[in-house]
Amino acid sequence: MKNKRRKFLKNAGSTALFASLGSSFFLSCDDTEDVINPDDNNENNSSGNGFTVDGNIYTIELDHPSFSILKSTGGWLLFNEGGMLLVNVGQDVIRAFSNSCPHAGCRSSWKYSNDNFTCTCHTSIFTNDGTLVSGPANSDLDSFTATRDNDILTVST
Ligand code: FES
Repeated sequence: MKNKRRKFLKNAGSTALFASLGSSFFLSCDDTEDVINPDDNNENNSSGNGFTVDGNIYTIELDHPSFSILKSTGGWLLFNEGGMLLVNVGQDVIRAFSNSCPHAGCRSSWKYSNDNFTCTCHTSIFTNDGTLVSGPANSDLDSFTATRDNDILTVST
């Protein structure tokens, strides 16, 4: 009986720790520093990365762990290998933009909060429809055509 109680408490503690860590992870994904980057897994098989490329067409599997954050409203992704920013703006709509800042071309210094993208190279701000809010950039983000069919996202660059 004593061993059963000890084992139960040990397992319950692990579950609580896991739940706590999981919660922290998802909260941090809304912040600006924890960008999921499919490049990080160093796989050459593009289908294993959750996307395929055919010419200028990217087909992205939203069920893949690298992209599943895009299934939630407000979820966003700096997708470096595709050269794009992706964001779920609600009602199953995902928008895609070039990740090249129109100011000086920074590609990897993006954050997203309050429905705005900020290029942290020199702090240009854009809405989640790509419209310039404040410079030094003097033009909007280049947008790509993004079409969602259930859990498949197709982006034409
Ligand atoms: S390159 Fe983005 S603000 Fe300068």
